[in-house]
Amino acid sequence: MIKTVENKEIEKQYEYMEKIKDKVSGLKYYINTMGCKLNENDSEKISGMLTQMGYIETTKFEDANLVVFNTCCIRENAEEKVFGNLGELKNIKAKNNMIICFAGCMSQEPHVIEKIKKSYSQVDIIFGTHNIYKFPEMLYNKLDSQRRIFDVWNIDGEIFEGLPIKRNGETSASVTIMNGCNNFCAYCIVPYTRGRERSRSPRDILREIEELAKEGYNEIMLLGQNVNSYNGGEGYGFANLLRDIDKIEGINIVRFMSPHPKDFTDNVIDAIAECNSICKVIHLPLQSGSSNVLKLMNRRYTKESYLELVDKIRAKIPNVAFTTDIIVGFPGETEEDFADTLDVVKKVKYEQVFMFIYSVRKGTKAETMPNHVPEEVKSERFGRLKALADKLTEEENMKYIGTIQDVLVEGESKNNKDMLSGRTRTNKVVIFEGDKELIGKEIKIKITSQHIWFLRGSIVKG
Ligand code: 5AD
Ligand code: SF4
Repeated sequence: MIKTVENKEIEKQYEYMEKIKDKVSGLKYYINTMGCKLNENDSEKISGMLTQMGYIETTKFEDANLVVFNTCCIRENAEEKVFGNLGELKNIKAKNNMIICFAGCMSQEPHVIEKIKKSYSQVDIIFGTHNIYKFPEMLYNKLDSQRRIFDVWNIDGEIFEGLPIKRNGETSASVTIMNGCNNFCAYCIVPYTRGRERSRSPRDILREIEELAKEGYNEIMLLGQNVNSYNGGEGYGFANLLRDIDKIEGINIVRFMSPHPKDFTDNVIDAIAECNSICKVIHLPLQSGSSNVLKLMNRRYTKESYLELVDKIRAKIPNVAFTTDIIVGFPGETEEDFADTLDVVKKVKYEQVFMFIYSVRKGTKAETMPNHVPEEVKSERFGRLKALADKLTEEENMKYIGTIQDVLVEGESKNNKDMLSGRTRTNKVVIFEGDKELIGKEIKIKITSQHIWFLRGSIVKG
């Protein structure tokens, strides 16, 4: 179902941004973004609104007059960090006359709101994932009244269009195509913090991507909690969207995350196979390789059906590569179950495995399940999985050595400003020497060595 916030409401927010300008122009803001790419994309929208109001971005929070914590609660360690950061800000708040905003998935959790209300008086504004577009109004009210503003909705917000956005990347842009999730995997907090699935209209998505192409972006990352249940209305699904995006001139690379294995239709596989711009690396979250654990997780596929899907995709898309997410130590996971996970990892030979130790989330089905796995068993299994995944990644990487790859140059290397960093069509990071003018271009690189997380190479001349 597509429901979009009315234009009138968005116009009202533009008016608030105008009204605030006089008071805040030239002041500095800092956004601390945790978690996934969807949160990063939300931060780009918050950044866009703040820029429109006249705020200037800073990378040091001690210089900021306004700080936004865009939080994540997918695992426990992310939560603990935020409260530590809030504590640190208490001392410098007065000095900068700082406004502290708390947003994102954690603010959708009632126990978090209670904790902030009681013990973190330094927080001025709390808003949730459903009403980001109302941020200008909340900030206006805060500046006007000096009262604390708490505005979190537990109903699904509507999709909003037309607010400003300030993007982080120069060559690659993220585009959220849907929000929310209907799957209720037993470990996962997302359906509670992001609500039910809502898709943006195909027209709005395609228009945004056409604009991005005109602005010079050539890589697009489509985002959603479960992209292949995208529903554009009247039978228009994810495969249609992929095919239409492929037709947009100037967009050379299209990636997407995350699809759910249970919803991966033949139609989507054909679209990936046939469309030149769609990246042939598929992130296919496994979570566990054991059919018993998958059942407990409510994933609605089995070890066998997952492997069949991988084979089917490989048959239709030669040279396809896979990446995945795996949770180690879900309640009830036995040594045999874990052996099944290792078995799938060996069989699929992923390009990259993102591994997580199971962490209890309040209010999820798994919280009250029996047979929670002891911490030391979880860490020991995690170590074994990591050793296997690293070994397989190294073997995969070795295959690249000596080959010539098309690499989209993304920018300076984060760890060495004298080098450039880019990605192969199969999403491998490549570090190499080159002129900064190459940023944004796709060039040929000969791979010379591998380092697990990245490849090194040199530009092929001529
Ligand atoms: N504990 C550990 N990992 C989790 N994930 C989601 N919920 C949990 C949890 N409670 C992992 C899943 C998901 C990724 C984004 O985070 O693997 O795909
Ligand atoms: Fe969480 Fe499962 Fe939805 Fe992914 S599909 S967001 S893991 S509930």
